[in-house]
Amino acid sequence: KYLDAIAAAANEAGLEELRVAAVGKKGEISLKMRELGKMSPEERQVMGPKLNALKDEINSALALKKEALADAALNERLEAEWLDVTLPGRPRPRGTVHPVSQVTEEITAIFADMGFAVAEGPQIESDWFNFDALNIPPEHPARQEHDTFFMSRAAGDDRPPHVLRTHTSPVQIRAMRAQGAPIRVIAPGRVYRCDYDQTHTPMFHQVEGLAIDRDISMANLKWVLEEFCRAFFEVEGVELRFRASHFPFTEPSAEVDIRCSWADGTLKIGEGDDWMEILGSGMVHPKVLTAGGIDPDQWQGFAFGMGIDRLAMLKYGIPDLRAFFDSDLRWLRHYGFSA
Ligand code: PHE
Repeated sequence: KYLDAIAAAANEAGLEELRVAAVGKKGEISLKMRELGKMSPEERQVMGPKLNALKDEINSALALKKEALADAALNERLEAEWLDVTLPGRPRPRGTVHPVSQVTEEITAIFADMGFAVAEGPQIESDWFNFDALNIPPEHPARQEHDTFFMSRAAGDDRPPHVLRTHTSPVQIRAMRAQGAPIRVIAPGRVYRCDYDQTHTPMFHQVEGLAIDRDISMANLKWVLEEFCRAFFEVEGVELRFRASHFPFTEPSAEVDIRCSWADGTLKIGEGDDWMEILGSGMVHPKVLTAGGIDPDQWQGFAFGMGIDRLAMLKYGIPDLRAFFDSDLRWLRHYGFSA
């Protein structure tokens, strides 16, 4: 009876119940063994070994069954928790460095090698820093040309008017006032103009350059810009063209073009018969030095400003500026740089 029951036991709890019922202290077999004392010696001689054998047989059946149940439980777990370590892992989406960030880093590193530190200024700028201090007084036509975003003011708010800076040039004034001459800084950052087409977005990036010392000249400006372009475009034979121009904050002023060619849709720098404008520059106007708290009789310097996004388009052959700021993941994966 017990051997059949043990064989049929479904789990360890059921098996334990059978053990108690059969060979536990008050189990059926144990009680029977206690009755041996009341038997006649002849009967005891027959029943004793029989009961002992029965007890042994039940105990070993219990042990075997216990082991079999443990095995079955383990196998069940192994089956349920089975893991195929040869399956490929789940891909984790990886970010990329935005081309503008990449190019900003490249530019900063090149100028750092030439001894330029990084200066910063606010994107919401007083119109004094953005215009007046740069020799662009209130009725100056350059204010209209900048397509400025003006910050609105609540009635009764008499703080000076502010704008979204239209260029990084106000950082020139901030650097002059913060550190005095001599100065050698670049100022990369966001600028804003109300304009939108294939080559203009209302927010874009510029990098300003400013070097002030006792005897800085246009020759230094020319060397720094040529050196920069050689390093940035990784072309030994870059050729720049300095074209006389006008900015209120520099005198003389020059716009700078780079020699390039367009052949079947690809741009090559340093060869061909085309010229691409890449920046504005000049010698810092004495009035600008004065606004920056620097004596124009003692110091002089050059300044330049160039479009970072424009440089990124040229170097990496990106045709549409607007895509830079659309946050299209496919575009970012295509043009982004792995981190
Ligand atoms: N701020 C000018 C612009 O945005 C560029 C410039 C900077 C020109 C410094 C001369 C000197 O067009």
